[in-house]
Amino acid sequence: MSNLRIGVVGAGMIGRSHIERINNRLHSGAVVAVSDVNLENAKLVASEFNLKVFENGEDLIADSNIDAVIITSWDPSHEQYVLAGLKAKKYIFCEKPLSDKAVGAKRIVETEIAGGEKLVQVGYMRRYDKSYIQLKEILSSGKLGEPLMLHCAHRNANVPDMYTTEMAIENTAVHELDVLRWLLNEEYVSAQVLLPKKNRNAHAKLHDPQILLLETESGIRIDLEIFVANNFGYDIKTEVCCENGIVNLPTPATPYIKFDYNESVAIPADWKVRFTDAYDKELQEWIISSKAGRVDGPNSWDGYLASKNAELCSLARESGEIVKMSVEAKPLFYK
Ligand code: NAI
Repeated sequence: MSNLRIGVVGAGMIGRSHIERINNRLHSGAVVAVSDVNLENAKLVASEFNLKVFENGEDLIADSNIDAVIITSWDPSHEQYVLAGLKAKKYIFCEKPLSDKAVGAKRIVETEIAGGEKLVQVGYMRRYDKSYIQLKEILSSGKLGEPLMLHCAHRNANVPDMYTTEMAIENTAVHELDVLRWLLNEEYVSAQVLLPKKNRNAHAKLHDPQILLLETESGIRIDLEIFVANNFGYDIKTEVCCENGIVNLPTPATPYIKFDYNESVAIPADWKVRFTDAYDKELQEWIISSKAGRVDGPNSWDGYLASKNAELCSLARESGEIVKMSVEAKPLFYK
């Protein structure tokens, strides 16, 4: 069977990285075209991978030589391109978040339902990470009893100057907001945000760190530290305390070194290093399921809930209050 012909909108850091993995390492699909609001970015990536350049993302999406689309542009442009993909009836892989606004993500859900065909997958790649899959298997086995408390951390070495206090939740913690409801198979019912003493390594517009406190439907309590200017590296933690035992998210093994009277293990520099295998698996499975006419990964409903929950957490931070998160019934279309 021929390769899935893929067009990419957004030729920045992760767009280029997805093109590289698909065209150099994965099978059954090939990126054949690229578009970027910054034409120079598109041309640069196109010359590296021999791709056709479209000046306009919508033209790329509508083109009859493109079977499926990957959207890796900035958050506020995701909705317009996903809607264009739905109009063209193409399979769409949209990097997280599905939309920078819950209302935009809801419009995508409504348009997809009206079209009668599931076409959208959202880039919540932690669901494809081996360590999260192992953690979910252990919890699902029931041998540790019911989960009661989770202690989590999302730590980055640093972030760019354009990164704001809102983004710590709406662009960073959305990963946990997605993966923890998947892990526990439960929705959140309340959120609160605490702001500890401000880190002097963070720029003026960013309050770092932040602590997010979540409660789920059955009463599980989650504390999530979001610490994005830690000056030491990328560090993801999830500890689940259950009735009969505790399980920690395994960290992929790296060489353990004894040298010069010291013992050391390297800390990943960033998400690209920590989650490389998850991105590979996510996109390989997306290619296979798109060719088979299915969406198997996180869908528009998951993307909508992540954006909606992130917005409510931002509200909790701004108000200092405990914010209720109402559990919405999942439309039949996504069951
Ligand atoms: P980036 O800034 O390196 O690249 C974004 C590219 O999109 C730039 O080349 C920019 O010119 C282009 N662009 C912006 N607006 C556009 C528009 N309206 N139409 C066409 N092109 C447009 O950003 P990066 O880090 O590659 O992030 C891109 C997206 O991927 C973001 O939504 C981000 O949240 C997501 N992301 C997801 C990650 C994950 O772990 N799943 C990790 C990193 C990014």
